[in-house]
Amino acid sequence: MANKWSPSSWNKFTLKHLPVYPSQDDLSNATDQLKQFPPLVFAGEVRALNKSLAQVAEGKGYILQGGDCAESFAEFNANNIRDTFRVILQMAIILTAGTHLPIVKLGRMAGQFAKPRSSDTEKKDGIELSSYKGDIINGISFDKSSRNPDPNRILKAYSQAASTLNLLRAFAAGGFADLKHVQSWNMGFVKSGPQAERYRDLANQIQANLNFMDALGINAETTTQLRKVDFYTSHEALLLPYEEALTRMDSTSGEMYNTSAHFLWIGDRTRFIDSGHIEYCRGIKNPIGIKCGPKLNPDELIKMIDILNPNNTAGKITLISRYGKGLVQNHLPNLIKRIQSEGKIVIWSCDPMHGNTIKSESGYKTRPFDHILDEVKTNIEIHNSEGTHAGGIHLEMTGQNVTECTGGLAEITDKSLGDRYHTHCDPRLNASQAIELAFLIADVIQKNNNVSI
Ligand code: PEP
Ligand code: CO
Repeated sequence: MANKWSPSSWNKFTLKHLPVYPSQDDLSNATDQLKQFPPLVFAGEVRALNKSLAQVAEGKGYILQGGDCAESFAEFNANNIRDTFRVILQMAIILTAGTHLPIVKLGRMAGQFAKPRSSDTEKKDGIELSSYKGDIINGISFDKSSRNPDPNRILKAYSQAASTLNLLRAFAAGGFADLKHVQSWNMGFVKSGPQAERYRDLANQIQANLNFMDALGINAETTTQLRKVDFYTSHEALLLPYEEALTRMDSTSGEMYNTSAHFLWIGDRTRFIDSGHIEYCRGIKNPIGIKCGPKLNPDELIKMIDILNPNNTAGKITLISRYGKGLVQNHLPNLIKRIQSEGKIVIWSCDPMHGNTIKSESGYKTRPFDHILDEVKTNIEIHNSEGTHAGGIHLEMTGQNVTECTGGLAEITDKSLGDRYHTHCDPRLNASQAIELAFLIADVIQKNNNVSI
């Protein structure tokens, strides 16, 4: 790596999965405008997140990270944002009860627009076009003009991210997340069914505790934690011209922050030595996630961690393993041993989605609920036997009643996938599956920790 970092030094490194824009002038025109726009998140918020993540690294917290695989311009509306936020709150309550730990809430929201694709082009009826790479880059419809990368989409994505964050901030601090509403978060199509009943029981128990504390004078008026939540945003740091334009110096510390999201991660396909994505991430103070899939070379990972976190700061690096059911046993124990023997401080999170994607008989990309659960369970058991802290979960999910992942108590079958398959990229858990999974994860953690709700 070159010694001198700047927000644009990534340009001199190996770049994968970045679009080739037809006109560099048009791209500069868009990014020059973006450079003038206000930051979306603030250095002080990132510092607060860094502190919470340092706790997670010590085993004193748990990360819940979730949201769309790809946010889209078409699915952008207040109800979708509210519903995803609400399900994350519900899952956080369930996981708090299961882990007895503070839950760090990270949305894959307000910026999760750019996608790496396994193939650069897509063929249909003899026509070959550029693959869809996320709404910040090109359009999903299969025609030449939509699939051309358009830099003006960067500005539209910024504007959508700003509105999304505005609403999230209002929900997090403006009353919606007040714990006294814990019973009413269970709404809509999730209301019926066994996991809804289980949630209601837990919510009733929390309400009883709130009543008890109120009698002691501890309530939403006296205690902010009961009234609002800290909610952070995250996305894959993929589209580097966007990330560069939102990289700003914090005037109080003189340090550089990415202000497009609180937490950024490096995807499985852009995580390699000499990667421009690693170069970009090494210069910012935000916490960084690194996806770890079956192709990861542990020697390379150690070198990348040295580059990204030379001072071995607790909470800076989250390793997000995404091996897939049946493969996790072959890779994770060795990786943990290696990281431990090198003395690297990391948070271990589990993404049980990306290693478990299959093509259904009906032709849809899907993920069986059982496979997702299997990977999470094995992950927790491995950490338990290695003596490390299973510190988080990373999910693709939505608050909507979609039919994209099969199974779960919702009993979504191959045949019903077509009913409400709306994702712009990978299949997401729907709200009911997400809540069910949170309960099952809480059960596994409890079993491994011998704690009880
Ligand atoms: C993702 O999180 O959407 C993704 C593309 O993951 P990965 O890099 O792990 O494949
Ligand atoms: Co995905």
